[in-house]
Amino acid sequence: MATARPRGRDLELRVARSADDRAAHFLVRHTVFVDEQQIFHDTDRDVWDESAVHVVAAMGPLVVGAVRLYRLDEAGLWQGDRLAVLPDARRTLRAGAPLVRFAVATAGELGGHTMIANIQQRNVPFFQHLGWRRVGLLAPYHGLTHQRMAIGLSAAPSAFADDGYAWALGS
Ligand SMILES: CC(C)(COP(=O)(O)OP(=O)(O)OC[C@H]1O[C@@H](n2cnc3c(N)ncnc32)[C@H](O)[C@@H]1OP(=O)(O)O)[C@@H](O)C(=O)NCCC(=O)NCCS
Repeated sequence: MATARPRGRDLELRVARSADDRAAHFLVRHTVFVDEQQIFHDTDRDVWDESAVHVVAAMGPLVVGAVRLYRLDEAGLWQGDRLAVLPDARRTLRAGAPLVRFAVATAGELGGHTMIANIQQRNVPFFQHLGWRRVGLLAPYHGLTHQRMAIGLSAAPSAFADDGYAWALGS
């Protein structure tokens, strides 16, 4: 899923392949996680950015949201994180849910069977609304209380059991 456009809307979700899209992706993340939430001091980039799939949500020329995803193992466990929509665009452009769905669809197309994410506690209902389930207990992560959550991906075998991923699923 290299691009997607929610029906009847000008919002476009796409993998950030151009230099401009990648710069915009990192700018959205910096605006939200460094400037606004101050979870990170100088930069929120880390080693996962070397191999992650970077995604942007754009309205015309304006990139308003970002998320990244990366594979954690060869068997198909993926992680999604750095989900961010610019403050002025939240709940109005409705970019957050499509970003999550795009990340889930992309990881499934790339052979993933499960995606996990560490979710800020206040966003747990948002993710539950999108079909994610809680796994494990609340725990501190980057200085904030987070809930690990998971969702099955399109490549998941129907008989797949979480048992092999106790370390990731907190069970
Ligand atoms: C979380 C975030 C990405 C949501 O983006 P958004 O563009 O506001 O989300 P949407 O407009 O697509 O919301 C979709 C639905 O979820 C609801 N929703 C959004 N945030 C919610 C929340 N925190 N709790 C419960 N519901 C929420 C919306 O009201 C909407 O409901 P509706 O379909 O019934 O109208 C955005 O608030 C954000 O960037 N926050 C700061 C960074 C952050 O917290 N990132 C996530 C880290 S875990």
